Amino acid sequence: LSRKVPIIQFGLGGVGRALLRQIIEKREQIKRRNGLELEIVALLDSSGGIWSPNGLDERTLRRALAAKSEGLSLHDLPTGRAKMDDVALVTRVAVAGVKRAVVVDVTADPDLQDALLAARRHDYGLVLANKYPLAAAQKTFRRLTGGGRLRYEATVGAGLPVIATLQYLLDAGDQVTAIEGSISGTLGFICTRLQEEVSFSQALAEARRLGYTEPDPREDLRGLDAARKLLILARTLDWKIELADVEVESLYPADMDSLSVEEFMEATSALDTAYAIRTAEARDKGSVLRHLGELRDGRCRVRLKEVPAQGYLGALRGSDSLFLFHSARYADRPLVIGGLGAGVEVTAAAVLADVIDVARISP
Ligand SMILES: NC(=O)c1ccc[n+]([C@@H]2O[C@H](COP(=O)([O-])OP(=O)(O)OC[C@H]3O[C@@H](n4cnc5c(N)ncnc54)[C@H](OP(=O)(O)O)[C@@H]3O)[C@@H](O)[C@H]2O)c1
Repeated sequence: LSRKVPIIQFGLGGVGRALLRQIIEKREQIKRRNGLELEIVALLDSSGGIWSPNGLDERTLRRALAAKSEGLSLHDLPTGRAKMDDVALVTRVAVAGVKRAVVVDVTADPDLQDALLAARRHDYGLVLANKYPLAAAQKTFRRLTGGGRLRYEATVGAGLPVIATLQYLLDAGDQVTAIEGSISGTLGFICTRLQEEVSFSQALAEARRLGYTEPDPREDLRGLDAARKLLILARTLDWKIELADVEVESLYPADMDSLSVEEFMEATSALDTAYAIRTAEARDKGSVLRHLGELRDGRCRVRLKEVPAQGYLGALRGSDSLFLFHSARYADRPLVIGGLGAGVEVTAAAVLADVIDVARISP
């Protein structure tokens, strides 16, 4: 016997499209394995959406996928509707009698939290790849997580089971004493290149050429994205802190903020000597530089840190992510989770697994 799971999906970018494809392709398998029939009732992008309380059929979903891949908006589809207020949309779906739905946020919208809170009021489950709602005020985090029907694995480490591992340790009554992680694939890549004696400016230019950076690489170098992920980990540990409490080392001086992107890229060669000296000093001690997020002794820090070249973090290469959990039970050697820490397919897979998990515990 299977049960229908209505899904309201916000976002059809890289992750959202991969998720929709996986839902279409794995639907039968999920029905057999989990007894759940995933059914998209609403699909929204920034301009509008398509929705039907009875579920959108596969042809419509495939047409939406094709349109978004071509750079069109959902609004442009024959059945597309113009954007309405996100809270009103959730309310309208609920008023149409849709029960036990799961709302999925695969946007990067900082303003979706009200719609998510509205979904909570209708007793819907929530699955987030979007970090912003969980990195907002502590009060919002508490309201979203209250009730235990929110999953957010993809917000930290993409597809890697980082949050699940942390919850597992906490559920089993372990005392987590510290978490260290190479959280940013982009900055991890730059650290590896520095270690290989490539200059900072060249390493950054390479990362940009490979598409690892944001269009403005200062977004990555500022460390704010890593800070949001660390904040989410800290709050999962029940630390009562705000984003402003995370100590963040930016990898460039603030006076470079006034430059255009191209001027900034030109100017980064002025930083090369300082990074070469830091790299050489680390090497002299048998260490390497890594960009780390660290939760320890009540402090939440994101910075470039020297670590032993032979350790777990020192052995890390390229853009992979790595997380070390130190706890009462893992006191001598940490529990380690690592691997591919970005990419739309693995991220979408984590969201899909979260949807199934949250649907399983629906009231
Ligand atoms: N890519 C990864 O490897 C990765 C890994 C882990 C986590 N994540 C997180 O996953 C999220 C999605 O990433 P992405 O790479 O797919 O981003 P993206 O390609 O920029 O897509 C974002 C999507 O959200 C839509 N959107 C924005 N505001 C919206 C709103 N109010 N209502 C409905 N839709 C809205 C956009 O609409 P338009 O299409 O109209 O612009 C777009 O379709 C981000 O929060 C990201 O940090 C990504």
